[in-house]
Amino acid sequence: MSIPDPSGSRTEGLPPTELELSRLGEEETDVVSIAELANYIGQDVAVAGWVVHWRSSGRIAFVVLRDGTGTVQVVFRRPPGASSEGFQEGKDPVPHFALETALRVEGRVRSDPRAPSGVEIEGTAWTVVGESDGEYPIQPKAHGVDYLLDWRHLWIRAPRQAAILRLRAAVGRAIRQFLDQAGFVAVDPPILTPTAAEGTTTLFAVDYFGDRAYLSQSGQLYLEALAMALGRVYAFGPTFRAERSKTRRHLVEFWMVEPEMAFCTFEENLLWQERLISAVVEYVLAHCRSELQLLGRDIARLEQIRPPFPRLTYDEALVALKEQGMELAWGEDLGAPEEAALSQRFERPLFITHFPAAIKAFYMQPDPQRPEVVLAADLLAPEGYGEVIGGSERIADYHLLMRRIEEAGLPPESYRWYLDLRRWGSVPHSGFGVGLERLVAWLGGLPHVREAAAFPRMLYRLRP
Ligand code: 4AD
Ligand code: MG
Repeated sequence: MSIPDPSGSRTEGLPPTELELSRLGEEETDVVSIAELANYIGQDVAVAGWVVHWRSSGRIAFVVLRDGTGTVQVVFRRPPGASSEGFQEGKDPVPHFALETALRVEGRVRSDPRAPSGVEIEGTAWTVVGESDGEYPIQPKAHGVDYLLDWRHLWIRAPRQAAILRLRAAVGRAIRQFLDQAGFVAVDPPILTPTAAEGTTTLFAVDYFGDRAYLSQSGQLYLEALAMALGRVYAFGPTFRAERSKTRRHLVEFWMVEPEMAFCTFEENLLWQERLISAVVEYVLAHCRSELQLLGRDIARLEQIRPPFPRLTYDEALVALKEQGMELAWGEDLGAPEEAALSQRFERPLFITHFPAAIKAFYMQPDPQRPEVVLAADLLAPEGYGEVIGGSERIADYHLLMRRIEEAGLPPESYRWYLDLRRWGSVPHSGFGVGLERLVAWLGGLPHVREAAAFPRMLYRLRP
């Protein structure tokens, strides 16, 4: 097989075919992935993975192997090949493997309708690739979450955790696919920034050669500049908030996808959000059935998700909350309990729009009819998951933006370049930010966002 290389040995400039891509890596190994085993029934194969379960009854040993693509049971009944020892006909011991021993196994694939994968391997030989160092810290019993987080580097091997990470990958793929196909240009704003994008209380300061820099809270300000250069853009990357909150939906480091569109009004911004979320749900339903089932997700709830999404203004939300016995004074922000109560009323995600300007970011466009509220919306996921998107139309007028920067107590000289965008061809523009871990938590039905991150960063957790 050949794949294109810069020297042009293959037909120049042509991308690899799907067949070529699917064979990538095959030449280096004869090992078959467990997910592919069903295509090898009756054939002799090699698989490589880790022992998740072992038991023996006399002269037979049952070994369940996991390789990241799935699990399969390997049954050893006969003396294995020369590469192994200690499994001799009529004699104990049968091969005994501690949990998480890494093995390479050879054997014949058999159809087994009772097995979850539909196959089993009749083992003929094995090689220990990596020994397991005694008692594995994660046993099939209930461990506390703090204990599991201390062992996060091993906990991610558990089926539920691996399913979540696969779901996260699929959600990221769906987002990129949707935005790429819609003509958005993927861009990468800086992580080290000189100014706040989302309020000064959650900034992470780092020493920048004697100067002070902050880890990015949001790429938005840079995305606005990029949208004026490229039209529709998006960033997808890590963001940081020195959040002192210890809740089920706050992380200190999280990933955000941030689309930003030039010539885009508040109204159109909401349509993009609906389309994106609906496309992601559709993708996940089509490609992540087994993960959702493993997670015990009520899939019927996700099947309800399609546009249009209901909307309430902030004022209407206050009225609805009052009916539910939760009274808020005008100007107070919605907390998690209020968001949960509102979203329980609908099966689809719910937009809350037109928030009081005072509780929202300085860059949001005031409603021309009613300047005390802004053209901003939060999208609340159903089932009590709360805010998954924050977005708005941005202020396009130079003088208004300058005033809002000053009112927010921010130093205008630091925002000089951002104000410049309003000096040369300012246009109506809008954008939004989707928190990836919150989206995954909702789609996967997870009780806490921490499981949606491979190595979550939280108020009291920086390790491992
Ligand atoms: O509402 P936020 O703060 O909006 C912004 O940062 C805008 N600048 C985005 C934009 O318009 N380009 O954050 C956006 C989303 C939230 O709705 C939430 O899903 C997620 O980011 N988020 C968090 N996720 C986990 N932990 C935290 N501490 C989060 N803070 C925000
Ligand atoms: Mg928000």
